[in-house]
Amino acid sequence: MNYSRRKFIKTAGITTIGSTVIPNLAWASKTPWTLNSNTLKVGLVGCGGRGTGAAGEALNADPNVILTAMADAFEDQLQTSFNTLKGKYGNKVQVPESNKFVGLDAYRKLVDSDVDVVLLAAPPCFRPQHLEAAVNAGKHVFCEKPFAVDAPGLRRVMETARKAGAKNLSLVSGFCWRYHQPKRDTFGRVLDGQIGEILGGEATYNTGELWFKERQRGWSDMEYKLRNWLYYNWLSGDHLVEQAIHGIDMFSWAMGDKAPLKISGTGGRQKRTDPKFGNVYDHFGLTYEYDDGVKIYFFCRQQEGTTPSYAVELTGRDGRCYVDCRTGEHKITGKNAWNLADAIKFTDAEAYRQTKVRGMYQVEHDELFASIRANKPVNDGEWMTRSNLLALAGRMAAYSGQTVTFDQALNSSEVLFPGEISLDTRYDLPVAIPGITPFR
Ligand SMILES: NC(=O)c1ccc[n+]([C@@H]2O[C@H](COP(=O)([O-])OP(=O)(O)OC[C@H]3O[C@@H](n4cnc5c(N)ncnc54)[C@H](O)[C@@H]3O)[C@@H](O)[C@H]2O)c1
Repeated sequence: MNYSRRKFIKTAGITTIGSTVIPNLAWASKTPWTLNSNTLKVGLVGCGGRGTGAAGEALNADPNVILTAMADAFEDQLQTSFNTLKGKYGNKVQVPESNKFVGLDAYRKLVDSDVDVVLLAAPPCFRPQHLEAAVNAGKHVFCEKPFAVDAPGLRRVMETARKAGAKNLSLVSGFCWRYHQPKRDTFGRVLDGQIGEILGGEATYNTGELWFKERQRGWSDMEYKLRNWLYYNWLSGDHLVEQAIHGIDMFSWAMGDKAPLKISGTGGRQKRTDPKFGNVYDHFGLTYEYDDGVKIYFFCRQQEGTTPSYAVELTGRDGRCYVDCRTGEHKITGKNAWNLADAIKFTDAEAYRQTKVRGMYQVEHDELFASIRANKPVNDGEWMTRSNLLALAGRMAAYSGQTVTFDQALNSSEVLFPGEISLDTRYDLPVAIPGITPFR
């Protein structure tokens, strides 16, 4: 049953160091811990929900890891995260007051501190700048998706990823499904040719709405926007790029990360129209066209009260592949029929038990830290930026109403995020209107 795991993990651009992954370390907070020459020191940039989760996973990934530095734009966010992590991981969290950095330049102070690994989980617009600083400073990186909100930012990330490779630094992306064993096995089969030549497909990320933070007295306009970053395309990339990108990443993975020829689509805001929702859309419908006329249709929405769907379905000459992130269904039908439920019961039970115990977010860090220990750097740069570009291209096509080629998207000069900002900066972009908003 392990017939092709090695092969398809390689094809999928994922390095797995299964044998060196360290088992669950739930004991971490209870065991006395002392600094030694093998200790890996971790710094967290962006101490919100995901960053706090990622820090915990880093601490669980290896017996000799401590958190020594934290950076956030806002003091309250940093302190809440620190208290959560300290409560859970005890003496593995050793962040002195002098290593708690606050402000929009906090990341710079953190990368200049004595950390070995940096976790990047601030809003997406900052990622090109934060990643570049971390790699320039010679740090290994866990980098949450997405990596850029516009093509100039993404080109900078591509360059930085190449630099990380040249410096032998690990760069692991937050595209968590690539670290999920059932997805590795299912898409691995597709990459192995088990459904034959792919003729077409559909993917979805249709969901409800997300949080909103009411404006507080004393907040500047920029602070209000930063605290509600999801709703400003120049901070988040829009929900297609920020959230639904996971669905794009999965179908791109199954397509061998090859470049589509052109992208077209539509989108808008029908339900989430209040000004408090900034300038993002609430739905997109896109077509990714590959060579030989193969098309993948992608739909996403954030609209409360609508039927949810988060799945990838591909039709090949010899069968179909179906992956449902909500129900956990993973199957191949046709000539080489396979399904996850039977694999768990009959053939690969231990592999899946491990997956369940560790979880995909944990596996990301297990593999990152194992790669550092083994001095075999992981670099997700190439495929992670490809998936980011597909999402950007989809947004460009929907916003402008124009069909966009892959190369046009890659070379786009459109800048959404203005770069250096302060809490006093005032900045806004209008809601895009297809046919009027130009492709640039
Ligand atoms: N892989 C996944 O499944 C997954 C899940 C959730 C979020 N994410 C990604 O993680 C990132 C963070 O999302 P979140 O849900 O934790 O958001 P969040 O709002 O909870 O956290 C973001 C944090 O960054 C801080 N911040 C803002 N600007 C900053 C700056 N310039 N420097 C340092 N810190 C800054 C904010 O104050 C906040 O504490 C996003 O890119 C998001 O897309 C990934």
